[in-house]
Amino acid sequence: MTPLRMGWIGCGTHANEMLLPQLMRHPVRLQALCDVSDERLHETARRYGVADNNLLKDWKSLLARDDIDAIGMAVGPALHHEIGLAAIARGLPVFIEKPPAPNARAAQDLAEASKARKVPVVLGFMKRYSTANRIAANLVHAEKFGMPASFLGQYMTAPTYFEKDVDYTGFFLHHCVHYFDLVPHLMGEVSSISSRRFQIEPGKLLLHVDFAFRSGAIGTLVMGTHQSRGTPMEWWQVMGDHHRVEVRNLHEVRYFRAPPFKVNDLQATLRDHEDTLVWEPNFTVAANEDHKGYHTLLGDFIAVARGEARHVPDAQAGAQAMHLLEQAIGGL
Ligand SMILES: NC(=O)c1ccc[n+]([C@@H]2O[C@H](COP(=O)([O-])OP(=O)(O)OC[C@H]3O[C@@H](n4cnc5c(N)ncnc54)[C@H](O)[C@@H]3O)[C@@H](O)[C@H]2O)c1
Repeated sequence: MTPLRMGWIGCGTHANEMLLPQLMRHPVRLQALCDVSDERLHETARRYGVADNNLLKDWKSLLARDDIDAIGMAVGPALHHEIGLAAIARGLPVFIEKPPAPNARAAQDLAEASKARKVPVVLGFMKRYSTANRIAANLVHAEKFGMPASFLGQYMTAPTYFEKDVDYTGFFLHHCVHYFDLVPHLMGEVSSISSRRFQIEPGKLLLHVDFAFRSGAIGTLVMGTHQSRGTPMEWWQVMGDHHRVEVRNLHEVRYFRAPPFKVNDLQATLRDHEDTLVWEPNFTVAANEDHKGYHTLLGDFIAVARGEARHVPDAQAGAQAMHLLEQAIGGL
């Protein structure tokens, strides 16, 4: 297969540590790199073998090239919006890290432009793609699970980002936004949303988000900036009628059904159709799983950029997540 020729904008931590390593496992050629920082540009070029004449400091020059099939970027909310619109105008399929824009209105612009120009946009909502989350979502969406009646989850972080300047915008935009995509992905359309907050002290915010879903189901999501990043940060559970799926720390799935008590059963055993199923990855083998989901997400982006149909987190999903975020926190 001919490699997809990618132009990449933003050579920061996330691009270097998460996105580019997974992107390069696919049939892709990094045709050109762009960053305003010389140091980051050259370090990234060294890692991925991009020649000096393909290193650019101005993203407009990168978009103007005629040897690029698709664009990827991880720069930040305002530039995601601005560069995203320019890539769409240029007709280049574009992978945009989250958040797609600094606010819901701007995210909606991107969605409308992508639809009007029929240029695919894929957003970095990789939580949908993590192996454990995919297993759990498929269980929840299977007919035999019945109606998902409730969601309960927590997605924490630490106050590190906020110690100097107590402004929670970064927490909302860079952290919380993920779950405003994941929760509707699991539970369906949200009919109303509200939140309560408690600030333990400046920089340490606790947010409880209350969801009602069009199906009648209900949900609570706890997010906050008062936990150590050295501890597991995520846990979620969806309950149906005598069914319950949980994902712990993005890698352990438990599926509870309706087993009978075993206490008086001398033949007690584990039965396929009723006892609890547990899935955990084997961390000993080479990395053939996709715990965080970046590899599969980027694979879907490449397929979409080549014209294949995939169910991806697109620009409209980004706008929806941003609208829900704004409703939950009362505006950005
Ligand atoms: N999916 C996730 O879980 C996850 C995790 C971390 C970060 N991110 C997202 O990735 C994005 C980047 O985060 P990061 O931690 O890598 O930040 P970063 O600051 O390390 O990287 C951003 C890079 O963009 C470059 N840049 C800034 N302005 C530019 C311009 N005009 N043209 C070209 N390059 C420019 C910077 O020099 C820097 O190298 C953010 O939107 C963040 O939310 C996502």
